[in-house]
Amino acid sequence: MISLRAKNLKPSPTLALAAKAKELIAQGHDVISLSVGEPDWDTLECAKQAGRKAIDDGFSKYTPSNGIPELRKAIAAQTNADLKTDYTPDEVTVTAGGKFVIFAALQCAIDPGDEVIIPAPYWVSYPVMVELAGGTPVTAVCDETVNFKLTPEILQKHITPKTKMLILNSPSNPTGLMYSKEELAALAQVLRDHPRILILSDDIYNRLVFGGELAPHILQVAPELKPRVLVMNGASKTYAMTGWRVGWALGPQVWIKAMTNYQSQSVSQAASMSQKATLAAIEHGAPELKKAMTELSARKDRAVSLLSQVSGIQVANPDGAFYIWPDIRKLLGKSYKGKKLATSSDFSVALLEAQNVAVVPGVEFGLDGFVRLSFALKEPRMVEAMERIKKFVADLD
Ligand SMILES: Cc1ncc(COP(=O)(O)O)c(C=O)c1O
Repeated sequence: MISLRAKNLKPSPTLALAAKAKELIAQGHDVISLSVGEPDWDTLECAKQAGRKAIDDGFSKYTPSNGIPELRKAIAAQTNADLKTDYTPDEVTVTAGGKFVIFAALQCAIDPGDEVIIPAPYWVSYPVMVELAGGTPVTAVCDETVNFKLTPEILQKHITPKTKMLILNSPSNPTGLMYSKEELAALAQVLRDHPRILILSDDIYNRLVFGGELAPHILQVAPELKPRVLVMNGASKTYAMTGWRVGWALGPQVWIKAMTNYQSQSVSQAASMSQKATLAAIEHGAPELKKAMTELSARKDRAVSLLSQVSGIQVANPDGAFYIWPDIRKLLGKSYKGKKLATSSDFSVALLEAQNVAVVPGVEFGLDGFVRLSFALKEPRMVEAMERIKKFVADLD
């Protein structure tokens, strides 16, 4: 009955794992999920108020497909202040969540046969979305020797005459690591020699940065790339608005216009009240965000410290987002209840069974031997989860 496209479609592994954890919870198990990619704190108060007001004011009908003008204006102003760019509101499109921004961006830029370079470890949805656009995902593995970040040499090695796009994500899901200005400048140097390559900059975690306010950006160090860069962001992570579904992009008019047309024939628009809530968050959310980040930063320090006490696990200190990317390779080859843990998937399944702690295996992000933990959960639960991981590791043979 279903199409080939649907048959080939893999469900999001992170959501699948979260679903399994929820199932165990429903059965009465005390599961701690470190697998979900969303803030544990509530949507910013200023956004909630604006959303409620929009509903009360009857602002609940269709809006323009590319978003309400005042929101596009605020997004352009915020981005221009961040990146020292000169985007106009016409170079902005708003849609139903960051995920659909990326989906539409790929649908509108990729033809069958085009290659898209994706540095691994990567966000799980990129390769699938490239395939859905008819393109070929080209995985550029960036292991611990390069601190999980794309280098000019690795980039160069993966460029072919078919390369159409590079996806960058900083701070990264899953590692929480962030590119420095120098690292971005070195990548820009390579990209300058390949004018046909588009760059999709996924900035969804750019304000969730520890010890700073904003992640460095390729447009800050190479403004001349602007005609081929798509800046993508959204309200989900920054303003704890994952369920409100608002994302946006800024970029070349022709690409932005195509994306708006694409969404006008599919999801239509982001929910009208969600757009109003996002506008309030952008304009008034900074103090609440700062407070949330101070708490998140302290929790990150605690999580890293607890995890680094577990023998056999190595932890890099994340720069942003709410993920840790521990190296579990020393534990692979050990056994749990007589079953050998050969991969990060075996490790994750056994950890969930043994200690009711859900993590995401690194293999889902294109690099085995690691797992992704989210520390966006209340501190006592996070501490308890780390203790359970310690116990699990101690029990391995
Ligand atoms: C790297 C990255 N990009 C984009 C998104 C999309 O987020 P949303 O669709 O909630 O805006 C996510 C969400 O998990 C993400 O981790």
